[in-house]
Amino acid sequence: MRVTTADTLPHATPCDLLALAVPEPGTLDGDAAAVDRHLGGRLGEAARADAFTGKRGRTLLLHTLDSPFRRVLLVGTGRDHGPEAVRRYSAVAVRAARDLRAARVAVAVPLEDTARGTGEADSAGERVRAAAEGAGLAAYRFDRYRSQDNGAPDEAVVLARGDAAAAARAVRQADIAVAATSRARDLVNEPANVVTPAALAQVAREIASRDGLDCRIIELDEAREMGMGLFAAVAAASSQPAKFIVLDYRPPQAGTQAARTVALAGKGITFDSGGLSIKTAGGMATMKSDMAGAAAVLAAMGALRELAVPVRVLGIAAATENMISGHATRPGDIVRGLGGKTVEINNTDAEGRLVLADALAFAVRDGAAEIIDLATLTGSCVVALGDHTAGLMTNDQPLADRLLRAAGAAGEQLWQLPMYEEFTEAMRGEISDLKNSAGREGGAERAAAFMGEFVGGTPWAHLDIAGPAFAEDRKGPPYVPPGGTGYGVRTLLRYLESAPGR
Ligand code: BES
Ligand code: MN
Ligand code: ZN
Repeated sequence: MRVTTADTLPHATPCDLLALAVPEPGTLDGDAAAVDRHLGGRLGEAARADAFTGKRGRTLLLHTLDSPFRRVLLVGTGRDHGPEAVRRYSAVAVRAARDLRAARVAVAVPLEDTARGTGEADSAGERVRAAAEGAGLAAYRFDRYRSQDNGAPDEAVVLARGDAAAAARAVRQADIAVAATSRARDLVNEPANVVTPAALAQVAREIASRDGLDCRIIELDEAREMGMGLFAAVAAASSQPAKFIVLDYRPPQAGTQAARTVALAGKGITFDSGGLSIKTAGGMATMKSDMAGAAAVLAAMGALRELAVPVRVLGIAAATENMISGHATRPGDIVRGLGGKTVEINNTDAEGRLVLADALAFAVRDGAAEIIDLATLTGSCVVALGDHTAGLMTNDQPLADRLLRAAGAAGEQLWQLPMYEEFTEAMRGEISDLKNSAGREGGAERAAAFMGEFVGGTPWAHLDIAGPAFAEDRKGPPYVPPGGTGYGVRTLLRYLESAPGR
């Protein structure tokens, strides 16, 4: 589906479906009133007859028969009218267009006066961007293995009044974010027999050659020699070769002065069986998604050049399976990580923190000024925050505040969890420096505290995306179809777009 922009009036826009946002209590004003006049009052009549109240998610469909727009769809937006409400409304419109087999859907961007009340940063440009994002994200489907076709509309026209150049810019930014999110979704949706660590390495190479990034693939032997004993311990039983993937983006406009380095690190467990601390059948059912952090990092890396991101970005994906065999790491084994610390692996299913610990230490060695990691790390985080919200843990509040703002602008739910001293204490080993698991109480925070032992003093933020990375059903926002969600990509891009260059 193409997303385009036009500044025609809604009732003069030729399309198969014209979508209009209507806030509570369902009064037709602005665009909706103009369209209603154009239809001789039939729209208002239908809204009254169907008791349309503008409640969020409610819709009303009317065939016009003789207008340039063949059908009109009112979409309730409830009481909040910030960019996220627009993103959701636009997604509802595209979903409806898909069901109706409407090839061309026009989405009228609500005017300023209906957009207030959420405290989100709001502007005409933000609403256009949100409308384009919601449309593009909702059109996504993973249909590679389906014999019948996707059914998405051919075109979504975002109707933006005012500054046409600004609208075009907003749609372009949305396009880049949607393409990157779709790439991450694809990588998560592909099964583990397709998306192996080697396949992720291949994706990294393709991104590097298309966008002029440096790409280094560190094989397991070399990783072990470098001292990455934690990554190697997780990879020990996998017959798929592990890959420690490093992408390096340098901003074109940096000149002679070296730009600041932001490191992104993603958990890339292409399948998590739990290892010898094996999961239940139900527990491993969706564990092809345990590389969602790496997918988000790789996908974001592939969008940096188009967005002209002004900082150097180091993208790391620690990719391996977590399997069992005679070579498997045993519960109780003690290994040494890249930073030199020793770890007793008392639970082989707590593998994400191990591969990430080496990735974090690697980023520190490379001279990163700050590090952001994304990982489907703990079931505890899902219990704490639910399916649609990621947990944020940090050793640097200003970094966390900037990330929370970026997530808010992107419409990705992110909530901070504490990093008290006791969480680190819980991870101290009896006969080693650290152990990798310590019971379920504060499980998300303890996992973060473990990783915090490998970043030294470098500002670092950890996003536990175990909940929002994979949608089991359609209960999330309307622009999130079941399967891989691409969570985190849009937050990272928002963050990096506006990061100070040095
Ligand atoms: N990949 C899982 C976490 C996970 C669980 C992600 C559910 C998505 C949905 C992780 O490797 C894991 O197994 N974590 C354990 C840690 C425990 C053994 C300390 C967990 O959360 O149970
Ligand atoms: Mn695990
Ligand atoms: Zn895992």
